Amino acid sequence: MNMKLRHLLILLAVCVAGSYQLSLPDDPTYYAGVVEHSVAEGTPSEQTSIMSNAFRTIIESPDARDLDIIVFPEHILNSRETATFVPHGAQNVTPCYAPDYEVFLVELSCAARSRGVYVVLNVVEKELCANGAGAATLDPCPPATGVRYFNTNVVLDRRGRVVSRYRKTHLWRREYYSTSVLVEPDVAIFETDFGVTFGHFICFDMLFYDPAMRLIHEHNVSDIIYPTYWFSELPFLSAVQLQEGWAFGNDVNLLAADASNPSGRTTGSGIYAGRAGRLTASINEMPARLLLKAHVPKRRPGLPAYQLPAQLDPIFQPLLETPRYTKVATYRDYNVDIFTSTLLDADFVNISQQLCHGSAFCCDFHVQRQAFPGDASALQAYRYRLGVYLGNETTLIRVDRSEQAICALFACRDEEIQSCGYVFPEASRVGNKHHFTSIRIGGTFPAAPRGRRLIMPSTLDGLFMPVAVAHYNWSEAPAAAAHPQQAVRVDLELIRPRNDILTFAIWSNYYTELPSTHNMDHLQPNGGATVTVTVTAPPPAVAQTPAPVAGSATDLACTLSLVLVCLLFSSMGPGAAN
Ligand SMILES: *[C@@H]1O[C@H](CO)[C@@H](O)[C@H](O)[C@H]1NC(C)=O
Ligand SMILES: *[C@@H]1O[C@H](CO)[C@@H](O)[C@H](O)[C@H]1NC(C)=O
Ligand SMILES: *[C@@H]1O[C@H](CO)[C@@H](O)[C@H](O)[C@H]1NC(C)=O
Ligand SMILES: *[C@@H]1O[C@H](CO)[C@@H](O)[C@H](O)[C@H]1NC(C)=O
Repeated sequence: MNMKLRHLLILLAVCVAGSYQLSLPDDPTYYAGVVEHSVAEGTPSEQTSIMSNAFRTIIESPDARDLDIIVFPEHILNSRETATFVPHGAQNVTPCYAPDYEVFLVELSCAARSRGVYVVLNVVEKELCANGAGAATLDPCPPATGVRYFNTNVVLDRRGRVVSRYRKTHLWRREYYSTSVLVEPDVAIFETDFGVTFGHFICFDMLFYDPAMRLIHEHNVSDIIYPTYWFSELPFLSAVQLQEGWAFGNDVNLLAADASNPSGRTTGSGIYAGRAGRLTASINEMPARLLLKAHVPKRRPGLPAYQLPAQLDPIFQPLLETPRYTKVATYRDYNVDIFTSTLLDADFVNISQQLCHGSAFCCDFHVQRQAFPGDASALQAYRYRLGVYLGNETTLIRVDRSEQAICALFACRDEEIQSCGYVFPEASRVGNKHHFTSIRIGGTFPAAPRGRRLIMPSTLDGLFMPVAVAHYNWSEAPAAAAHPQQAVRVDLELIRPRNDILTFAIWSNYYTELPSTHNMDHLQPNGGATVTVTVTAPPPAVAQTPAPVAGSATDLACTLSLVLVCLLFSSMGPGAAN
């Protein structure tokens, strides 16, 4: 069949299914949206109804038209009081017409079906557990209620059907007191009608091996969905910085949707294309309601790696004052206090030195700066430290133990190490008394027993955004992901001058297997006396292939004008309909 005719027929088929330009399996991209959204006020049931209406409004808005998939943030849709049952994907349930669920889930299922879009929600899930019912969890079933709760992602397909469910594995602080964890972590994977297979997890899970890294290493998943309610920490773990670094280190696509509560440390969402960098990202000083969208390149074995279109950078100019964020609250990373670190002179222009932590791990630093040509004396400026660490006495945001290896340049407010990881407050006038002309950081990162290692760039500027991938050179020899059992030399080099830098680092997580018990008896390694784990049948296989999308009653009729739209697209030739 003639290519053009074939293309036209495919497009007509898409029209009949009720949409203008859904991604087809052979298309090079799919169209994704992630939502950053502020938190509602009111009673739990008022909050749930406000958020459900807000999410529905976004799904139905013209802004969301043509999206193939839309991801909402963690934690803000419902709460314990409005917890819902959630079917497993294998049960083949469409809450829109099987309304045995909380009304918000029914309505959002109908909205997904009405607009023919995959929707990913994060909910408080309830499950009956009396008399051994329900899943095998680390905590016992509460005898008084016979109900347990999970922090759960729910994926609805274009027909509003639940096709995948994931229950959070690595809870955050006191969440352990109210939320259950499965004995065997969920490995949640689903296929789509546009030919992309996704894995998904939640928030703090990003800093652990299981299941986040397992999705990639053992299931070859290249597209990750990530609802989060992230608490940013300086200098290494602010929201966009971590998301972009994690997607880069793994070279996977990542759709990250964060809640928006900047004064409470939470903001920062984006869509990332692995080593090609961010397609879109945003972090905000004020509570926001945003739909970030991008055409995401599909990853197929054998296809050349996608590269962002080259951007014409404006010619670099030294600027004394550059915009900077002061209203996004952040944690401080107390791990830096035990790094081997050295304070650089306030006026340094050329540093070339090796710094070691113990005898086992050394990093090379080459940093050059130039002084601002004008008078900068009235302004304050960050001091910088070089820091090196390899060991097991760190934590992940003081919630779980960790093993990390780090080579870093980071900003401090004064000479004291205790001032690192804080930005100057809003009232301070801060200047780039020097700008960076070159930074080169490198180290040999040890082999990881059992392949549990992720090495990533961790960079940050004054607006809490990472340095764009086009502005640095990252090299690994041999390739870290392909050779986890080998030591790897990693070099990170700034290749464009830069006025403001808070962090420029190689940050790696060696995914410790030392247990954290969170002061919880049932999480003690040998099991607390009160544990009664009821092992039920293993859950059904995680990957389900959804049936092809058929035009449903609520699909738009394919009117003459739609046909004309399709004809128009097809006359623009292959690829134009995307
Ligand atoms: C993942 O890819 C590797 C190498 O291509 C292959 O050997 C393995 O079977 C794949 N695993 C799965 C679960 O598809
Ligand atoms: C910086 O210092 C290094 C080593 O001390 C030297 O090789 C290099 O030429 C210097 N660069 C500049 C621009 O002064
Ligand atoms: C932490 O690392 C040190 C040095 O490698 C090692 O001696 C020690 O056993 C480790 N601690 C634990 C609890 O594994
Ligand atoms: C990036 O680093 C590699 C290895 O050090 C080097 O060969 C290459 O020229 C660098 N590219 C740029 C653009 O600096």
